[in-house]
Amino acid sequence: MQSADSRPVKVLILYYSFSAQTSGLVHRLGAGLEAQGVHLVYERLQPLTPLKFPIGTVLSTLFMMFITFLRVRISIQPLSSKCWEHYDLIVLAGPTWSYNPSGPVLSLFDRDGLKLFAGQQVLPLISCRGYWRMHWWGLRRLLERCGAKVVNKMIFVHPNKEPWRTIGVFLKLAGRVPERSRWLCRHYPRYGHSRGQQETAFAFGSAIGQALKGGTSLADISFVPGRTGLL
Ligand SMILES: Cc1cc2nc3c(=O)[nH]c(=O)nc-3n(C[C@H](O)[C@H](O)[C@H](O)COP(=O)(O)O)c2cc1C
Repeated sequence: MQSADSRPVKVLILYYSFSAQTSGLVHRLGAGLEAQGVHLVYERLQPLTPLKFPIGTVLSTLFMMFITFLRVRISIQPLSSKCWEHYDLIVLAGPTWSYNPSGPVLSLFDRDGLKLFAGQQVLPLISCRGYWRMHWWGLRRLLERCGAKVVNKMIFVHPNKEPWRTIGVFLKLAGRVPERSRWLCRHYPRYGHSRGQQETAFAFGSAIGQALKGGTSLADISFVPGRTGLL
């Protein structure tokens, strides 16, 4: 696929994923982009010391929630050289951690933010249990401080109802299997995003590819699940 000025359209999907939810979404998003002929590059942020999912115990899960609330950074390996090429769009994707971007994404901003995002069109994707607004405001501020043009946002929340969603995520992080618990499985059949949400991500990818191809604004796409398309 060529852009309006007949260059190939290139998109970088830069992401971090701890429990495979963001990863599942960005790969469906990427499939939608590729279906439109976009040249796609994935880059997953890799912590210097790999993090183990599940965290394992209730105490260590509470501890991680506390330090992530304090926005403690998690150092990451250097980005691969392909990240420094020109892209028509960077999709920056990752989970919410205690109302903030995750530690690896915060590290990315500290080290590479200015060089990576200045003058760049960026579309964030957030995967979370349900509480994304503070994350979104903080992320948009970080991107704008780096000189990025934040064109829109894609938000995916776990489809389960409260309070089961919070209980289920906490137990899952702590190493339990709530979806197989006799008392919880009726209210909490699955951790994370649904198949339907993954197909929504595919539709978003197609819509982004079409907009980039046609030279239309990504700000005009409705990224509300079920309402994909131009506003
Ligand atoms: C340490 C930690 C803190 C979290 N805090 C929040 C939060 O504040 N709000 C929320 O909606 N989800 C929160 N979550 C849930 C994740 O955002 C959610 O499970 C997400 O889908 C995980 O994506 P991933 O598998 O790509 O890492 C937290 C998860 C972890 C591990």
